[in-house]
Amino acid sequence: MVSTSPSSGSAEFRALRDLPEWQAFESAATQSPIHVHRLRILSAAGLDVDISGQGSSPELAQATRALLEARRFTAMREQLLDGGIVNITEHRAAWHTALRAPDPVDEIAIERQRLTEFVRQADSERRWRNIVHIGIGGSDWGVRLAVNAFGYAGAWRTVHFVANIDGHAMQGGLSGFDPHDTLIVMASKSFTTAETLQNGTRALEWLQAAGIQNPYDQVVAVTARADVAEKWGIPKSHIFRLWDWVGGRFSLWSSVSLTTALAVDTDVVAGMQAGAAAMDTHFAEAPLEDNAPVQMAISGIVNRSVLGYGSLNIAPYDFRLAELVPYLQQLEMESLGKSVDVSGAPVGVPTGPAVWGMPGTDAQHTFFQWLHQGSDGAPVDFIVCRHADHGWPAHHQSLLANCLAQREALLKGKTYEEALQQCLDSGMAPDQAKWLAHHKVHAGGRPSNLIVLPRLSPYALGALLALYEHKIFVQGLVWGINPFDQWGVEYGKVLAQGIASELAGTSPVDPNHDASTAHWVNLLATSKEAT
Ligand code: F6P
Repeated sequence: MVSTSPSSGSAEFRALRDLPEWQAFESAATQSPIHVHRLRILSAAGLDVDISGQGSSPELAQATRALLEARRFTAMREQLLDGGIVNITEHRAAWHTALRAPDPVDEIAIERQRLTEFVRQADSERRWRNIVHIGIGGSDWGVRLAVNAFGYAGAWRTVHFVANIDGHAMQGGLSGFDPHDTLIVMASKSFTTAETLQNGTRALEWLQAAGIQNPYDQVVAVTARADVAEKWGIPKSHIFRLWDWVGGRFSLWSSVSLTTALAVDTDVVAGMQAGAAAMDTHFAEAPLEDNAPVQMAISGIVNRSVLGYGSLNIAPYDFRLAELVPYLQQLEMESLGKSVDVSGAPVGVPTGPAVWGMPGTDAQHTFFQWLHQGSDGAPVDFIVCRHADHGWPAHHQSLLANCLAQREALLKGKTYEEALQQCLDSGMAPDQAKWLAHHKVHAGGRPSNLIVLPRLSPYALGALLALYEHKIFVQGLVWGINPFDQWGVEYGKVLAQGIASELAGTSPVDPNHDASTAHWVNLLATSKEAT
């Protein structure tokens, strides 16, 4: 692994607001409208990324080049892809791209081989009809996404995912499964995550209660801390390896995908890796103007930091991609939910947006009204497959029509005059029409991307996820923040540990709690309601 010093953490780093290139970018962005009659579609690793619904101009393109140069984009991209230290607050690489390289280094190849062999053996013995996958955040969302995307029609093995510390989650996760034919997969990079360890303990108790002599034989771990997992009781041969240079939210590309391989196929894992690797190549080689992650990053920065949109909506027009929304929520918000730059100073402009969404067409009947006519609005990423994998072409045509129609409505909008004419044409009385037309106006000019996959293959999904990863890297670079740490999550975890001991009565109630927390801790501890 190449390990170079982080330029973004060094003395030459300059705050975004101090860069003349940022001032020029800001000014160009405010004068770059969406051109509804201009088509801009980028081709990336088999995906069509239609960015026609974003503002553009030659001046913005020029300012983008200058801004990226000021941020040493080419050198930093190389550091990322070569395994340099890009996560400067934890002094680590973020080398998830190595996990999906077509020709990986030995230690990665060995783990891939071990995973394949484990699945082959289990398949040949027809073992593990049920899998309980225990893990949270990055040790959960990617696997859920893949299993739902490719196992939506059911598979020979049934998987229950348990992430939450809420005992109901574990109860549901175990219910209906025969303990004698259930494999417990514990995925945790750190192997210290409270949720995963508590849920893992419940799973072991469940196996023991069923009379299983050696329950650890039915547990496998995927972790960067093999030492901790071994101490926990899991045999070495059941521990799949991760590395500290794999960020938790990128661990989908590692043996964390064992569950996907067992539940759907090892080919799914390999296909996703191949698609992601193709997107890595595109990101590394495509010129800036044609580089899909770069262009998506830039319009995201314009939307957030210049136009002031506070959120980004993800609208996958594919039922199988429901889990894409939480997956991207973690990827985007854990990466970009920061407001100091690498020098420790405030960034000075709004950074990562809140990410939210739901598959279309459900979303249309839930919150699209707000997107169309609400006072804030949000940029939308529409994601759709050209071809479906079911046998009802009319359904797919309707799905495509809805996706295109919603996007067009956001882009083109509807003027008062158009609305009025429609009311009059429908035979409405003029006074009534004049009044009602106000309610039918759509502002239009609301930004969006349309990402078209040929079909939902593992390759295409892998490429899609890598597209977002690289977009986020570029955004972090421009804002000057480290997208690879997550210090914000830690504080709450520490407080929860203290409160848990207070509720259990093993430590006194902290006198420094705020009034409301103190009230509830005292009440729940003394009344034993929390037990
Ligand atoms: O949410 C914080 C976090 O550290 C994530 O980054 C990570 O995906 C998740 O917790 C789970 O961590 P681990 O894999 O170490 O159990």
